[in-house]
Amino acid sequence: MQSPSDPRPGLHAAIIMDGNGRWATRRGLPRAAGHRTGVEAIRRTAEACPGLGIGTLTLYAFSSDNWQRPADEVGGLMRLLRVYLRNETARLARTGTRLSVVGRRDRLPAGLPEAIERAEAATAEGRKLHLRIAVDYSARDAILAAAVRLAGEPTSRAAFGAEVAGAMHGSPVDVDLLIRTGGEKRLSDFMLWEAAYAELHFTEQMWPDFGEDDLAAAMAEFTRRDRRFGGLTNPKVSAAA
Ligand code: FPP
Repeated sequence: MQSPSDPRPGLHAAIIMDGNGRWATRRGLPRAAGHRTGVEAIRRTAEACPGLGIGTLTLYAFSSDNWQRPADEVGGLMRLLRVYLRNETARLARTGTRLSVVGRRDRLPAGLPEAIERAEAATAEGRKLHLRIAVDYSARDAILAAAVRLAGEPTSRAAFGAEVAGAMHGSPVDVDLLIRTGGEKRLSDFMLWEAAYAELHFTEQMWPDFGEDDLAAAMAEFTRRDRRFGGLTNPKVSAAA
């Protein structure tokens, strides 16, 4: 579901891109090779979205808890983001993709926040897909920040949700479909507020192998789900029964 301030049509899919490390280790490669190959999966998946009815795609690239990983892996991921912004911005603009990076920016390496701002500005006119990459993102921290900011103030779900999204540099947009690759079945502090009514899809596929067919399969399953948002599918029939 789109926010009133974002008229972009289409569903919001969010993906926890898990399995890069295992994908690499199984091939006798360093974990970094899994992350690098994961960037190709990002390109394939993003470019498949408009054709599948997805207008917003949020990808979990680095959680706030990922700072605990070894410094060389963290450094490698930050370099990968820098290279991604440098190499992909022109292609994103050409394919009508607006890029946003959600998450905290104050702990990123020097120069990276500015590179993010440049890529966001260069792709701001994109209308086919809003690609949001979550970096140094924590849903719990976002909810906590919103609660502290609004403490004692009268509020609504919509206004509170806007604060939650704003705390991570984002705009409020409920998740329709939440996918996790890599076989694990958990949310790992991702979009906890926004995914209140998301349909969940877990796949064994490791992220570097993920692509259009996997996204299409998740969407096909999504369209078969009965989304009731806490209500009833057919209130008249159910009430009479
Ligand atoms: C989780 O898999 C994946 C990550 C922590 C990083 C995801 C990053 C990318 C896909 C590429 C980065 C791209 C940009 C644009 C920054 P894991 O490594 O924890 O996998 P494992 O569970 O198999 O160890």
